[in-house]
Amino acid sequence: MAKSKNVFFCTECGYESSKWMGQCPACKTWDTFAEEPPLKKGEKSRSTGILTEPQLLSAVSATENNRVTTGLQEMDRVLGGGIVVGSLVLVGGDPGIGKSTLLLQICKELTDKQHRVLYISGEESLHQIKMRADRLGIFKGELLLLSETNLDNIEVIINKNKPEIVIIDSIQTMYKEEIGAAPGSVSQVRETTSVLMHMAKGLNISIFIVGHVTKEGVVAGPRVLEHMVDTVLYFEGENKASYRILRGVKNRFGSTNEIGVFEMMDQGLREVTNPSEYMLQGKPEDEPGSVVAASMEGTRPILVEVQALVCQTNFNMPRRTAAGTDYNRVNLLMAVLEKRIGLQMASMDAYVNVAGGMRINEPALDLGIVLAILSSYRNLALDSHTICFGEIGLTGEVRGVSMADQRVAEAEKMGFKVCILPKTNADSIKKTSMKLIGVKNIRELNRLFSQGSSL
Ligand code: TYD
Ligand code: MG
Repeated sequence: MAKSKNVFFCTECGYESSKWMGQCPACKTWDTFAEEPPLKKGEKSRSTGILTEPQLLSAVSATENNRVTTGLQEMDRVLGGGIVVGSLVLVGGDPGIGKSTLLLQICKELTDKQHRVLYISGEESLHQIKMRADRLGIFKGELLLLSETNLDNIEVIINKNKPEIVIIDSIQTMYKEEIGAAPGSVSQVRETTSVLMHMAKGLNISIFIVGHVTKEGVVAGPRVLEHMVDTVLYFEGENKASYRILRGVKNRFGSTNEIGVFEMMDQGLREVTNPSEYMLQGKPEDEPGSVVAASMEGTRPILVEVQALVCQTNFNMPRRTAAGTDYNRVNLLMAVLEKRIGLQMASMDAYVNVAGGMRINEPALDLGIVLAILSSYRNLALDSHTICFGEIGLTGEVRGVSMADQRVAEAEKMGFKVCILPKTNADSIKKTSMKLIGVKNIRELNRLFSQGSSL
């Protein structure tokens, strides 16, 4: 029999090709192709053999309350109100960011409430898990632990123990023997996930899968299986900073706009229920170039500090950087400032930073960026009780944004006194004790600012 030829997979997105390629044509990443044995015939499509009859839409019941709350509010919010029974959730993130810690903490909360939970680790020994668990506090309930990487064994154990919730840490260590490729390869990751998917739906258990994000492309990244699972959450944060953000990227049972904020402490992760307070920690008072802007993450308003540093350039090409927000947007706003109010930005270096390490791509941050640049350019500080929000268009107009009431309410709650906002939003807000300054365009904003008035 002729030896079947190996195939190549992109470890980023799972694109399949018969030959090696330098750049993936699907996701455009470089040097991510890995060689793997091909799938044997019949392996890919699995049929359960049970024939199900079609049903009438009207006959299908839609009782949407079979959710289990985790006890971690930040987690529940991102999931859309708790764990949906029978769902498959992928938790992705860089190695060492705290995925295992987060999931073990969820196990603690769930077992405290007498849920049957099975934690399967392919990376750590039971002893290591125990040590981590001890750091998290006392487990009141009983948690089932298993150190195993063979999926066939795992299937048997799940069938025997009938847990309600299973954690797989991590998918890149799991393997099925029939597949020739090594654990962590695209075909293994895909196949094991599809088996877990069938288990989740068939046995009606909720399964959490941990997936490491890899830069080097040695093992398949979580993007390979994003389309297979019900919910994709990414756990992010700077390795040095202690806060972590859990972000929904895909959710078949809720919105993807929500984020959960945590802080990594000595005893595990702590929920940050008031992110505004956290993000504004250490904000300087009365310094030029520092502005507080109200942004929204999903349904939740978060106040962030936008900083800008504008100074004379020493090069032919001015240097520009943007941290925590979109680089191109910052350049665009500088062009608008140059054209509409004659700021000499072409001879200036400009560095813009959203302090606290948060990443915000909302247009409502525009006004904050512009004010921070103006403030640094003119070397005039804004009053430390002033906040702002609003989108800026190419003609310099300040456009209204959504959820203005929530933004103003959050600022009021945090003790701010003055809000600079789009005129249309200012007219629509009825009830607030804050002083609202509605602006129509950045010329008006510039005038207010150069008068050094109450901003
Ligand atoms: P971990 O959950 O092992 O990361 P992942 O599973 O995503 O690879 O988290 C590892 C880091 O978290 C490690 O650097 C130590 C730190 N950590 C704390 O700071 N406090 C704690 O209570 C725990 C359990 C971990
Ligand atoms: Mg881990």
